[in-house]
This record gives sequence, structure tokens and C-alpha cells, in this order.
Amino acid sequence: AAAEKGGYPSFMEKEINDQPAAVGDTLLGRADANGRLMLDEVRIDPELLKSVDKIIVLACGTSAYAGQVAKYAIEHWCRIPTEVELSHEFRYRDPIVDGNTLVVSISQSGETMDTLMAVRYAREQGAKTVAICNTNGSTIPRESDAVLYTHAGPEIAVASTKAFLAQITAAYLLGLYLAQLRGLKFQGEIRDILSDLGAIPKKIQAILDNADQIKKLAREMADTKSVLFLGRHVGFPVAMEGALKLKELAYIHAEGFAAGELKHGPIALIEEGQPVFVVVPSPRGRHSLHSKVVSNIQEIRARGAKTIVIAEEGDEAVRAYAEHVFYIPETPTLLAPLLATVPLQMFACELATAKGYDVDQPRNLAKSVTVE
Ligand code: G6P
Repeated sequence: AAAEKGGYPSFMEKEINDQPAAVGDTLLGRADANGRLMLDEVRIDPELLKSVDKIIVLACGTSAYAGQVAKYAIEHWCRIPTEVELSHEFRYRDPIVDGNTLVVSISQSGETMDTLMAVRYAREQGAKTVAICNTNGSTIPRESDAVLYTHAGPEIAVASTKAFLAQITAAYLLGLYLAQLRGLKFQGEIRDILSDLGAIPKKIQAILDNADQIKKLAREMADTKSVLFLGRHVGFPVAMEGALKLKELAYIHAEGFAAGELKHGPIALIEEGQPVFVVVPSPRGRHSLHSKVVSNIQEIRARGAKTIVIAEEGDEAVRAYAEHVFYIPETPTLLAPLLATVPLQMFACELATAKGYDVDQPRNLAKSVTVE
């Protein structure tokens, strides 16, 4: 078993450290030398794909957060309205689905019963279905019109890490492919985004090589009872995923909020010493989101929050208001979740380990939920 864990104390740590390869392998062989995407696996008539007027992403758990990240990119690149819905909610609400709807399921295992039933339902309504899946030959891809495999390798730890990054990567490839088919993006732009994606594995590695600082903080915070996470734009699902990891692994009450929503409720939770992670957008982004999130940090700090900030290298503006800052390498805003998630995973894993919990087999959870 020690060999299977690649020398790490747990599968979880191994899988967190597998992430440069998980993203790199998912990108491998998907484009030709000119940066033209060749998603041969997506065996749906290109003419049909061109006529898609709505995308619905269906998933559960961490995979649903990957879908929420992807929505920002797909709508931006393809201009196709994209909804993300939990599979178990979708089925029972009489959703509007027809022959022009593309349903994209995301499932690491390919066996999650709620997602399988939702895909079946969507197909019955005439939708075209693509599965983003990490498990060859599993049920959801077999029952879908097409599959785009993530190549994260087997994920053993119950809580998902490397599959999440690979799912975001694959969903981005699908979004770029749709944009390419529809001719909405110049090929040069797609090539640039692919080259930015290609640079991600090395940047993840740089974060992993710098794990000491976040691990030390995690050990110091082992007695914490509640942690909040704030993020905005693609940082919002990252915040929710950071909170989920802490619930799953360390059994700590944790909640992720959209930073803009702070003033509509969550700020009431802030009291002296409340730890709050804040995922800060790049100051180089096109919108003024960076300064808005920096104001949020000031607001919660003024009310006593202990602020732990994930920011882009070179972002000095956050320092003054942050108890702790963890820097991630520069990358375009839409790709930032592939980096910002990593310190949050390491934090949850190390904190749970410090509490003596089994990070590979958290209580009450199953790797793959094959019942409704
Ligand atoms: C379970 C696992 C989660 C996973 C979710 C969806 O709840 O514990 O880690 O995110 O199922 O699984 P799937 O295989 O469909 O991605």
C-alpha cells in the first residue's frame, strides 16, 4: 500500500501532488500543431453541436463545483446560455430540455446514480449528452452520446482533488471546441488559451513545492470550529470547494460565499477571530473585481476577522489587510481556479491530519454514491 501511495502518507496527499500530471495528461493530444482542437472522442455531429442553444451541466459534489467554474468560461467563449444544476434537483423539477440542448454531465466515477438518472432523463427529452468522466467504460459515458475523458488517473481518496482540476480542464476544452466549431473565436485566441492551459502544470508544481507555509497554518488552526471562504466570479465556486474539502476531511463547519453577497448576510457572522479565506481575483483582470474584493477584506478585518488571503504573485495591495497571504503564480482570470484551489486542498488535508483523522476515508462518505 505504501508503494501505491507513491511514498506519501495518504492517497489524498499523493493525489494532490498528482495534479500537475492530471491537468497535463488531460490536455495531451487534444490539439494539432496549429492549436486546432481535435476532440475526436466527442462523436456528435458538428452540425448538431452548432445548433445547440442551451447547455445544462449536471453533476454532484465537487464535480458540480467544476461545472460552476466551467460556466463562466463556456458562456464567455461560446455565448451559449449555460446552466449548472445538481443532478438530483434537475430531474424532479420539469426542466426545459429539447433537441437543441446539450447536456454535459461531470462525474469522476461515472457511476453516481443521481447523475446517471438525470442524464437518462435528459436523453429521453431529446437532449444530446456529453459525459466528462475519469473512469473508462463506466456507466454514465456508456449511456451518453459522447464522452470526454479526464486523464487524472485513478482517484482513491474519497474526497475529490485531482479529478476536480482535470474536470475543469476538460470542460474548458469542450467550451473551446464549441467556440471553434461555431467560429466565434479566432483560432489564434484559442491557441493562446491552450498555451496558457499548457503552462498550468508547472504553476501547480510551484504551489506544491511551497506547501510548508499553508501546512504550518493548518496545524496551528487545528482547533478551529468554523471557517468561512469568500470568492467572486470563478473564485466563488473555488471558495465553495475549499469549504467542502474542510467539511469532508476535517469535519469543521465551513461555508463558501460569493464575496459580493457579504453585505447581504454573511457579514453578520464575522466576530473577533473568525477565520476567513478570501480568494482574490487578479489585479490584472478586465473588471474592477480585484478592488471590490480587497474592500471586502477590509470590511471583515475591521470586524475582527482573521483574514487568510489567496492572491496572485505581485499583488501587494492585499498585504496590509491580510493576516496571512498565499501567493499563486500569474495566470488569466478564467484559469485561476486551477491554481487557487490547490492551497485550499492542502490546508484541509493537513488540518484533518493534524486532528488525527483518516483523510482517505472520511466518516459517513462514499467515493461513489450509487444509490439515490
Ligand atoms: C461523492 C464523493 C465526492 C464526489 C461526488 C460526485 O459524494 O464523495 O467526492 O465529488 O460523489 O462523484 P462523481 O464520481 O459523480 O464525480
